[in-house]
Amino acid sequence: MPDFTAILPPARIGIIGGGQLGKMIAQQAKKLGFRVVVLDPFPDAPAGQIADEQIVGDFNDRARIRELVESCALTTYDIEHIDAQALQALEAEGHAIRPSGKLLELVQDKLLQRELYAKAGLPQPEYARCDEPGPEAFEAFGYPLVQKARKGGYDGRGVAIIAGPEQANSALAVPSLLERKVDIEKELAIVVARGLDGAIASYPLVEMDVDQQANLLDLLLAPARVEPAVAERAEQLAIGVVEALGGAGVFGVELFLSRSGELLVNEVAPRPHNSGHFTYEATVTSQFEQHLRAIAGLPLGSTQQYMPAAMVNLLGAPGECGPAVFNGLTDALAVPGAVIHIYGKAETRPFRKMGHVTVLDPDLEKARSKAIAIRDKIRVCAVSDG
Ligand SMILES: Nc1ncnc2c1ncn2[C@@H]1O[C@H](COP(=O)(O)OP(=O)(O)OP(=O)(O)O)[C@@H](O)[C@H]1O
Ligand SMILES: [Mg+2]
Repeated sequence: MPDFTAILPPARIGIIGGGQLGKMIAQQAKKLGFRVVVLDPFPDAPAGQIADEQIVGDFNDRARIRELVESCALTTYDIEHIDAQALQALEAEGHAIRPSGKLLELVQDKLLQRELYAKAGLPQPEYARCDEPGPEAFEAFGYPLVQKARKGGYDGRGVAIIAGPEQANSALAVPSLLERKVDIEKELAIVVARGLDGAIASYPLVEMDVDQQANLLDLLLAPARVEPAVAERAEQLAIGVVEALGGAGVFGVELFLSRSGELLVNEVAPRPHNSGHFTYEATVTSQFEQHLRAIAGLPLGSTQQYMPAAMVNLLGAPGECGPAVFNGLTDALAVPGAVIHIYGKAETRPFRKMGHVTVLDPDLEKARSKAIAIRDKIRVCAVSDG
């Protein structure tokens, strides 16, 4: 007999964070018959549009977090930058929050992540703690290096690639870690689910092209075009990471494949991940439903992929700020097989994630070129008031 009680519909699920991830979790929660309450600072947030109820409040507003948690049978989150202490205090009172506040606190700190993976013997870039970033510390560690803020980074903010002494002045002035710059062949990712009973289910390994200007995922291919042995090793490594973390939920594990053939852990997100959006259409159980199954103590679903898939993000066009309009959407929707998600964010900003496109095709190359062609028809602009 399991030592936990499954949470069943129509229980209320709380989601801290009302962005696109929260929205897709909410959509799948509704599919399963749950009630959904979202906490987000902006009224009518993407997830709030799906939820039964939205509480308007900041992710660090303890009173609003308490209000959400107390009104729900189970609470989760779609972003990392929330008050982890507040979550732990509420758990101590007996409220179910998954993944736990303790796990979240560890993941929030990139140095603590590295230390955990080191203890578990998992391969990762060489690293060092760096309390006072600058030319001296960099020199001692050796170039080329990557400086990472321990906390608060996302979408590449908080990451500085320092190739040599001439760039040492672009140091970020925050407690950091330094990492050896990996000569990357491919950026890979894999979503792994861990149930309350410890059951594990992993999704197919995917490869990501990162837009260097926006520092965001540009194009994703699933499955990754790597040797089966590499995919197998990547899966074992990602499972090792999730086992080291413990806890229930889905975890987006980012990996590097180096030019010399090494597989290294980059970092983990304790939630559904951008690299798993394709699962919404391409696998039997999406990462969003899987997250709910995992945290609610329900059996994990099949991660089988029906067909190869390509996914591209729809980003706000450079120079455009204000109420969003999707120019070219009608043409894009006319392409046979186009799957388009529009997140429902009121305002666009340059490179803001506003939606995504998924294409399934038995031929991954065709999926890729079609997804790009669809993306290129759409321009996310601001409505001009003229
Ligand atoms: N050790 C490294 N060597 C080479 N490149 C790296 C290294 N660490 C990070 N990068 C590059 O910087 C990008 C962002 O790093 P990381 O994922 O740690 O930051 P982040 O801001 O938390 O990312 P995101 O929120 O986009 O996932 C990586 O996707 C990779 O392209
Ligand atoms: Mg990352």
